[in-house]
Amino acid sequence: MSHDRFLDLPKLDLPTAPGQVSITAPSNIALVKYWGKESGQIPKNASISFTLKECLTRTTLSYAPIDHREKHSSGLDGHLSFEVYVSGVLKPEFGDKIETFFQRIRPYVPWIDCFSWRIDTENTFPHGSGIASSASGFAALAGALMGLEAAWSLSKTSAQSLIEKTSFLARLGSGSASRSIVGPMMYWGQHPNLIDSSDLFAVTLSQNLAPVFLDYQDTILLIDKGEKAVSSTVGHNLMHDHPFASQRFAQAQKNLEQLLDILNSGDLMSFCQLVESEALSLHAMMMTSNPSFVLMKPNTLAVIERIRAYRKAREIPVCFTLDAGANVHLLYPSAYVGQVLPWIKEELSVFCQNGQFIEDRVGTGVKII
Ligand code: PMV
Repeated sequence: MSHDRFLDLPKLDLPTAPGQVSITAPSNIALVKYWGKESGQIPKNASISFTLKECLTRTTLSYAPIDHREKHSSGLDGHLSFEVYVSGVLKPEFGDKIETFFQRIRPYVPWIDCFSWRIDTENTFPHGSGIASSASGFAALAGALMGLEAAWSLSKTSAQSLIEKTSFLARLGSGSASRSIVGPMMYWGQHPNLIDSSDLFAVTLSQNLAPVFLDYQDTILLIDKGEKAVSSTVGHNLMHDHPFASQRFAQAQKNLEQLLDILNSGDLMSFCQLVESEALSLHAMMMTSNPSFVLMKPNTLAVIERIRAYRKAREIPVCFTLDAGANVHLLYPSAYVGQVLPWIKEELSVFCQNGQFIEDRVGTGVKII
């Protein structure tokens, strides 16, 4: 599938007065991880994630039509005119990242040149909590732009094509953002067992999902709220000449195939085993790259040991997964909340910074508000 189809624009009736759109977009947590890409944000393997519900970015995107002669005389030719505010504070330091995003998406939404933009954004999760805001942040921005394009379109945009183009644009900001558009789960990256899968956008997993996964819980244990020791960009690049790269990409494809069966059967103990193995494989890649990174902290390991011991002793299907950081995502079915939450409070919260954790669960995706 080629990206050319996203170059086809509907006829638009562009506004002549300023306006705005507001949106919320969630974070997501990958079960089979994406780590390693080719240029153009093309993943080296397919990945799949739960869309979350509580960890959100809220963005208001305001626009004002620009007179192109004015733009020329102010020397803005070739650049987009925008400002970014985070929780009400102007953040010029995000300028480069947003400019890169705008430049990448420009061919697919050329009308962005006709406006100056103000992006007001905030996250529901604590700043510097170690939870990546790029997935929810770019999903929000892509969703807001597509909300405008659909509203200004003279023809009706189908829900399916709206989701695909939103995911396509979000991917150009951050790969994992492509999977934050709808719930309960999305996969991204070509996989032989998923005929509609694509490297260009994520697709909703709609078939064969055992009901237990529809309201799966993700309690995020905030082990270390420090800055990420390795940025995603650096991390993905380290996979280029990594000694285990090809085995890792093949393993991820195989794990996704197995996970699809598990998601269908609802075999929760197999789910736990596969999801934990994926998380540790991601960290193994970082530990064996050059330079190498150990992103787990002693408390990450302390929590992992307790989760495994609890699962064995109680025969309750709780398991962990990890992002590119020290925090632990504790995954379990909602039927066990009554047992698992008190255990988290009594035994696991002591390993969290300031005892903090976030009670999240599977959600439904971006929402225009
Ligand atoms: O979307 P990026 O480029 O920040 O990469 C994120 C990769 C992981 O979060 C570590 C794994 C994943 O699949 O979400």
